[in-house]
Amino acid sequence: MLLKRDAYCGKIRLSDAGKEVTLNGWIRKVRDFGKFAFVDMWDHTGLVQAVFDMGDEKLNGVKGCIVGDCVGIRGTVVERKDKNPDMATGDIEITAGAFIRYSVSEPLPISENPSEEIRLKYRYIDLRTDTMQGNLRFRHKVIKAIREHMDYKGFIEVETPVLSKSTPEGARDYLVPSRMQKGAFYALPQSPQIYKQLLMIGGVDKYFQIARCFRDEDLRANRQPEFTQLDVEMAYAAEEDVFSVTEELFKYTVESVTGEKLDLPFRRMTHREAMADYGTDKPDLRFGLRITDVTEEIKYDGFKVMESNAEKGGRIHGIKLSGFDVTRKIIDGLTETAKKRGAGGLMWFRYKDGVMISPVSKFLPDAGKSVERAFDMSEGDMVFMVAADASTASAALGAVRLGLRDIFSLADEDRLEFLWVTEFPMFFYNEDEGRYETEHHPFTMPDLDDVAAYMESDPLKIRSRSYDLVLNGEEIASGSVRNHISGLQDKVFEKIGITPEEREKRFGFFIKALKYGTPPHAGIAPGIDRFVQILLKAESIRDVIAFPKTTNAACLMTESPSEVGKKQLDDLGIMGDNKK
Ligand code: AMO
Repeated sequence: MLLKRDAYCGKIRLSDAGKEVTLNGWIRKVRDFGKFAFVDMWDHTGLVQAVFDMGDEKLNGVKGCIVGDCVGIRGTVVERKDKNPDMATGDIEITAGAFIRYSVSEPLPISENPSEEIRLKYRYIDLRTDTMQGNLRFRHKVIKAIREHMDYKGFIEVETPVLSKSTPEGARDYLVPSRMQKGAFYALPQSPQIYKQLLMIGGVDKYFQIARCFRDEDLRANRQPEFTQLDVEMAYAAEEDVFSVTEELFKYTVESVTGEKLDLPFRRMTHREAMADYGTDKPDLRFGLRITDVTEEIKYDGFKVMESNAEKGGRIHGIKLSGFDVTRKIIDGLTETAKKRGAGGLMWFRYKDGVMISPVSKFLPDAGKSVERAFDMSEGDMVFMVAADASTASAALGAVRLGLRDIFSLADEDRLEFLWVTEFPMFFYNEDEGRYETEHHPFTMPDLDDVAAYMESDPLKIRSRSYDLVLNGEEIASGSVRNHISGLQDKVFEKIGITPEEREKRFGFFIKALKYGTPPHAGIAPGIDRFVQILLKAESIRDVIAFPKTTNAACLMTESPSEVGKKQLDDLGIMGDNKK
């Protein structure tokens, strides 16, 4: 039998006093005082207290109930004498009149502060918390707002295959063996990149998809092997079109789900500026500490390290921190951070009680004065400097900058600081493999003037028409204007060392399609998991995914990946020892 629900546990208020309600949910707590029992009952809206008169036979079933049992209660809402201000429903309680124990639970394996391992193993129980329910509901609202807005702007949602062919996002593919064609494999899409471009060739003018992507890559805190993108593509579009669609989308979505108003347009910075001024392609602009090149201002005659740096064409970069007490231990930690990024060391200068202090002073008695001038230092200021080639100096200080952010909580946690980073380089040089690779995927349009000037002489100087959207120092979206010129596309493949045979095998169908009147097009793909995580200030990307995987790409609940039987392998024509 079902006690048909007509109210939700967490929603009942004092204004409901006197009403009869029927609730369904789980037992959170039972306190049996013999004559009376108090039961805390939870559903996805929250918690409410019910009182049972144990003398009433109809209510006998509550005896022996334990935390985790699934139950139904009908009763009257009454005002509580001892109100609990910590509970949303703390002004009332339910005087039980009818009770059913729908299902008996085993003792729950999750206690008060479970480890993440236990939470993931028993995810279905972990989901029975206000936080996880809130996260899932919030994510649903984000996706709903995205769909509303994209539809309003004339985009249509088109689904693309999951069993597909290798896509070029730079990670390893997840492969699925074909039973029908033994020895052949599908690849799960790293993104719908090629399909969305084919949709443009196919006349779909404005496409979007809430798309699942699969990447077999080393997992970090904000990465999952399968994750969700809002995938977007527009025909007859260039950078500004994508920027305005994306900005309006984020504005609408953030306002819908949090009520917060975003100012448009978002800030912009070229990749070159980001790398020089913040030492990263995803600057966190919620705080300052911009990196300054002070090579010309610093006098270092007689200081060997600096002289040899200058001889090699090196630079001196620095950042200034004001008003914080930086201990020796912190400096040592930051020095390690800088060294990990290739710096020889981290110089520091502190202006305290009117005196400039620095370990460098013994080598460079005059350095203090020039540093003071270069950084316009005043009482309480501290400057950190690195001497190295320009990119190492900025990268090291970029890492130190983030270290200082975390140590001194420099970033306003309530701020949403969006930033477009534009003009990424088209290529980078893969030292290990001794070849050029594309920084974004190879279907990105290079800057045509740069191609003319540098394709043969210095390909690393070629800028691409690609862009990232950064939010609070995290990359939340990435996209580009696409290369719709098939001859130029061939040149790009050539430059990254994909032979015509390999190109034909991997992307032949696509190269061919590009030859049939491809419209100029551009697109972008925001990562939904990351975006939701930042909005919720969740500690982990796993907290915004119902059934996430660990950093070993395993699901602790289903114990996947797992071995399969010989028969299944035989069907697929896969031989041998699958443990290797
Ligand atoms: P990209 O590979 O940069 O671009 O991915 C776009 C966005 O997806 C998110 N993202 C991830 N989120 C969680 N776990 C991961 N493993 C993961 N990898 C990426 C990030 C990222 O900014 N096809 C292109 C887009 C385009 O050019 O339109 C693409 O996939 O937020």
